[in-house]
Amino acid sequence: MPTLSLSTPVNTALLLYLLYTVQRILFPRGSPPPADDAPTEFKKGYSWMPRSHPPVLVFTKYTPKTLEKYDGKTPEGGGRILLAIQGTVFDVTAGRNFYGPDGMYGNFAGRDASRGMAKQSFDVEMLTPLDQPLDKLTDLTQEEIENMKGWHDHFSNKYIICGRLVENDAI
Ligand code: HEM
Repeated sequence: MPTLSLSTPVNTALLLYLLYTVQRILFPRGSPPPADDAPTEFKKGYSWMPRSHPPVLVFTKYTPKTLEKYDGKTPEGGGRILLAIQGTVFDVTAGRNFYGPDGMYGNFAGRDASRGMAKQSFDVEMLTPLDQPLDKLTDLTQEEIENMKGWHDHFSNKYIICGRLVENDAI
């Protein structure tokens, strides 16, 4: 019966390899460091955690009155800019140049922009007063409705949809 002999180099190499493999299974490298001293910057190590959780965007319902503060200038809005088209609320903060306080379309910030988008006008008359029911847009022509849908598509492809616009008394 053959016996295992360590005297041959092949067996010695196999045994060393076996011991190495068992050791790697029992004590794997790259296991995350204890949570207390986990690096918080990428350059310090591979397993790292951001210092704080990134901001999260929660899909929610807005009314004309709760949407208003997200005009990019009201402090309570935290600098965010939202606007609504056809009941969809978009976060257009990334388009601050357009919708910020000095932007060409700043009138739409924090407002229902549906009528202005439909009629291709950023006049203030396009905006429904905040204490009024939502603009039902029933007087729009087919062409204006198509125009508004075109803008809705443009915004859907470019900005984050973050909520629905509902009547003031709905929430
Ligand atoms: C004086 C005439 C106007 C000029 C010269 C003009 C110019 C522009 C320019 C250069 C852009 C940027 C396009 C891009 O980079 O993608 C733009 C985008 C836009 N324009 Fe106008 N525009 C005019 C009138 C209007 C009117 C009357 C409206 C009313 C609804 C309007 C609504 C928009 C919107 C919603 C965008 C898209 C911005 C975005 O992507 O966030 N524009 N316009």
